[in-house]
Amino acid sequence: MASVTQEAVLAALSKIQDPDLHRDIVSLGFVQNLTIADSTVAFDVVLTTPACPVKDQMRDEATRLVSAIPGVSSVKINMTSNVTKGRSQVRENYIPQVKNTIAVSSGKGGVGKTTVSVNLAVALAQSGATVGLMDADMYGPNVPMMMGVKHPQEGSAENKIKPAERYGVKIMSIGFFVPEDQPIVWRGPMIHGAIQQFLRDVEWGELDYLIVDLPPGTGDAQLSIAQLVPMTGAVIVTTPQEVALLDSRKGLEMFKKVNVPLLGIVENMSYFVCPHCSKTTEIFSRGGGEKAAEKLDVPFLGAVPIDPAIRQGGDEGRPIVIANPDSPQAKAFVAIAGKIAQQVSILNAAAPIELKIIQ
Ligand SMILES: Nc1ncnc2c1ncn2[C@@H]1O[C@H](COP(=O)(O)OP(=O)(O)OP(=O)(O)O)[C@@H](O)[C@H]1O
Ligand SMILES: [Mg+2]
Repeated sequence: MASVTQEAVLAALSKIQDPDLHRDIVSLGFVQNLTIADSTVAFDVVLTTPACPVKDQMRDEATRLVSAIPGVSSVKINMTSNVTKGRSQVRENYIPQVKNTIAVSSGKGGVGKTTVSVNLAVALAQSGATVGLMDADMYGPNVPMMMGVKHPQEGSAENKIKPAERYGVKIMSIGFFVPEDQPIVWRGPMIHGAIQQFLRDVEWGELDYLIVDLPPGTGDAQLSIAQLVPMTGAVIVTTPQEVALLDSRKGLEMFKKVNVPLLGIVENMSYFVCPHCSKTTEIFSRGGGEKAAEKLDVPFLGAVPIDPAIRQGGDEGRPIVIANPDSPQAKAFVAIAGKIAQQVSILNAAAPIELKIIQ
C-alpha cells in the first residue's frame, strides 16, 4: 500500500476554513507537529483561543478528511491554543504579560455588568484560558461578593499584591481593602492612582484575558481608565429598556474617542423563562439588542434571560456557570464568552490600531 505523505495530509486539512479569519487552517499555521507513523497520523491544531465555539466541529472535520486519505487507519488530533496578543497601546503598558484586556461597560448602572464580567471570566477560565478579573468599579465594587472572595492572597513579594484566586480566575478589587457597606468618596486622581496600582503592583502573571469591570456610565472616570489600561476591546452590556433608548450609543462613542474597538453588545435580562413550564416570555419586544447592534454596526454577542438563579448565584458568590453549568442560562454565558474570544481573535489578526490620547 502507498505510504501516507505529509503533503496529502496537509492538502486534506487545507480544505478546512477558519470561519472568522477566512483562511484555511494550514496556511494560517494552525496545523503543527504533524507525524505519520505507518498508517497513524497525529498532529496539533493550534487555535487562537481555547474558547473557540467551532473547536469540536473543526476536530470532527479534520478527522473525517484525514481518515479519508487512502492508507490512513487512525487519526490523533490534539486541539490546543495559543491566544493571540492584542495590539492596543497605552502611553506606558504596566501589564505587558497580559495578552488581551477586555472592558465590560454600560451606559447605565444596574444592567448586569458585574454579572456578565464574572460569568465571562469564569467561562473563559473553564475553557482552559488563563484569566484575570479586575474590578475597576471603585464606587460599587461588587466583584468580591459575586466571586465569593474577600481578600487578596498573602505571601507576595515586597510591594506587590497577589490577586485572590477563585474558580480559576485571578481577582483584584478595591473591595478587598475597604470596609463593606461604607461609601467611598473618590476624587478623579485617586481613581487613576488606584487603577494604576492595580496594573503595576498586582502580580497578574501571564494572562490570556484580563476582564475589566468598569464603573457604569460614559464619563471622565471611564475614559481615564480606558486610557490607562491597554484595552483590546470593549463589551457593552444593555437591557431591552436601554436598547430602546439607544443609551448604548454613548458607550460606543466613548470608546471610539480613545480608539478602543467594540467587541459587541450583550443584552441582559432579555427574556424570561418560566421555571415551572419552561415557557419563554419576551417581556419587551423581541430582538431589540440584535437590531440595535445591527444599527450601530457592532456584533451582537448574545442575550441572557432574566432569572432568579442568576441573581442568587451573584449574591452567593457562585456565578451561574459554576452553580449550574448545565442550565440554559449558564450556556448563554458560555456562548457569549466564545463569541467574545472569537471577536478578540479576529481583531488581533487584523491590522494594528493607533491609540488616540484625549487630554
Ligand atoms: N440576567 C439576570 N437575571 C436576574 N438577575 C440579574 C441578571 N443580571 C443581573 N442581575 C441582578 O441584577 C442586579 C444588578 O446586576 P449587576 O450588579 O451585575 O449590574 P451592574 O451593571 O454591575 O450594576 P452597577 O452599575 O451597580 O455596577 C444584581 O442583583 C444581579 O444579581
Ligand atoms: Mg457592577
